[in-house]
Amino acid sequence: MIKNVAVIGAGTMGHGIAEVVAIAGYSVYLSDVSQEILNNALEKIRWSLGKLYEKGQLKESDKTIIDRIRTTVGITNELKEVDFVIEAVPEKLDLKRQIFSRLEEIVADTTILSTNTSSLPITEIASAVRRQERVVGTHFFNPPVIMQLVEVIRGNRTSDNTLNTAYEFIKTLNKKPILVHKDVPGFVVNRVLLRIITNACMLVEKNIADYRTVDAVARYKLGLPMGIFELVDYTGVDVNYYVSSAMIERGFKAYQCKILEEMTKRGELGVKSGKGFYTYPSNRYVKVN
Ligand code: 3HC
Repeated sequence: MIKNVAVIGAGTMGHGIAEVVAIAGYSVYLSDVSQEILNNALEKIRWSLGKLYEKGQLKESDKTIIDRIRTTVGITNELKEVDFVIEAVPEKLDLKRQIFSRLEEIVADTTILSTNTSSLPITEIASAVRRQERVVGTHFFNPPVIMQLVEVIRGNRTSDNTLNTAYEFIKTLNKKPILVHKDVPGFVVNRVLLRIITNACMLVEKNIADYRTVDAVARYKLGLPMGIFELVDYTGVDVNYYVSSAMIERGFKAYQCKILEEMTKRGELGVKSGKGFYTYPSNRYVKVN
């Protein structure tokens, strides 16, 4: 029986996941390393809930929903009552392993520990804890509040009970979970998507087409809602760099895109930094009064 949920990491994915969980009626702890990051996350959630409320897409008021979200700086004892954890910190294996190991000191033995990793094998993250059977992947897509799909991934030691509980829990969030039984880097979605993104990148790096041309093809021929490079900006240039690197390091065959690395080093991270392949006047998902 899941009542209380914790989301660790209040960035692009974490704040959206916390919003989805709160909309479904659960109490949520949202944790990150500073109150400033958490306040920024709450501001984005407020904006998003306001939008959904205006459109009649919420069953309760946006205020009732946001009141279910409590923030906490760091991984503190406040989290000891939670039944389900969703970790959504940056795509760095050591960081995720540290967090899982710290969580295990605090939460009950029955608490399920899930990771929103996009690319890292669940088994590698789970090996940081003693009870690896309770670790599972729950991979959401950006923006979590709008994207329907969630991959529920079985690690090598995930128990049937953990996998089924995670799958049923995701359904209660009004999402469409798919079960992934092979713990391969990038699971199913990113093994398809990263191939598209890295191939698009190769076209640009080899001067076959510029990124605007590739994006026009994606929108006006392939019928995607965004161009490939617009999507990279939207999900984060750095995220795409870390995800593709982690997958390639683990044997996934794809073109190693240099532009993503160079842009990440320059801090051109896409929408969240105001500049990526395109420029963004301000964070377009925060309402400016
Ligand atoms: N909350 C509430 N409303 C939102 C919102 C949010 N988070 N994001 C967008 N909206 C609203 C907008 O405000 C707008 O409402 P309005 O018409 O009243 O102004 C409406 O949705 C449409 O948004 P936009 O006009 O900004 O643009 P779009 O029509 O293009 O829709 C989109 C935005 C839903 C993001 C759409 O472009 C889309 O589906 N893009 C593809 C996203 C995708 O593929 N995500 C998966 C990426 S892969 C990933 O995440 C995995 C990881 O491992 C990397």
